[in-house]
Amino acid sequence: MKSVKVKSPATVANLVCGFDILGLCLDNPCDEFTLSLSDEVGVTIENIDDYDLPTDATKNVSGVALLKMLDQEKDIKGFHLISKKIIKPGSGIGSSAASAAGVVVAANHLLGNKYSKQQLVDFAMYGEEIASGAKHADNIAPAIFGGITLIRSNHPLDIISIDYPELFLTILHPQIEVKTADARNILPKEIPLINAVTQWANVAGLVTGFMQHDYDLISRSLEDVIVEPYRSTLIPHFYEVKNACKESGALGGGISGSGPSMFMLSKTAEIAVSVELAMKGVYGKTGIEFHTHISKVNKNGVSLK
Ligand code: HSE
Repeated sequence: MKSVKVKSPATVANLVCGFDILGLCLDNPCDEFTLSLSDEVGVTIENIDDYDLPTDATKNVSGVALLKMLDQEKDIKGFHLISKKIIKPGSGIGSSAASAAGVVVAANHLLGNKYSKQQLVDFAMYGEEIASGAKHADNIAPAIFGGITLIRSNHPLDIISIDYPELFLTILHPQIEVKTADARNILPKEIPLINAVTQWANVAGLVTGFMQHDYDLISRSLEDVIVEPYRSTLIPHFYEVKNACKESGALGGGISGSGPSMFMLSKTAEIAVSVELAMKGVYGKTGIEFHTHISKVNKNGVSLK
């Protein structure tokens, strides 16, 4: 039986000011998926991790994305998926996107790479939708394209890869649960024009800063006046962490996706290590369990293992 094994990376969505439109691919952690063509109709799933995710394909993020692809295929009956999740669901670093993106890239290999990356993002978004209640691509696009991506439009999809300078990310993952659907529901439906002006100026500044490798401009633009004031209330000691990290030399950062993870961008590996110590300094005193890790930007996205 033909089969393919992929590594599917974690991602950071929003990048502070770019709610639902900016995302970045991490080197680690990565999920692992083995996908085979199957003689059984539909998608069968075998989980080899401790997360107890559904094996019913219609309720499983990977399963839903694969079923969407199967809808287009007349010549194959089904897929069998062996799923090893490493990225903890609900961590805020794109666990559901890794599930959806990894399997559609694997399926594309089995089908002779007939689909474009943009088409794969489209399939994967159906999986993301059942996890978060919204069809957003800001984790899926960087997982599939690698690097930093801009979603200029969801309908029709328009994804742009953005150049960037060397960057190191330090991630703090408090072991608390924040559901993406809840973190979306607390956001206002309308915003004052003055905040919109500040936000789109920062998005333009951040994208320009990445493309021109201008670290000062990146740093100045990492400001969110729309989403962070609401979501920061869901992450204990958010501003203490943010201030300590910036004092340690981080360019800036904030909530990773919908949280609870936080991320900070740094210019060098040494600064990223100081930032990690700053995170540990704040969270070590809170009594809340947490993990930290450092990653570079992954320019490849989902890759064959
Ligand atoms: N852009 C999404 C949000 C990412 O912030 O709700 C969630 O993973």
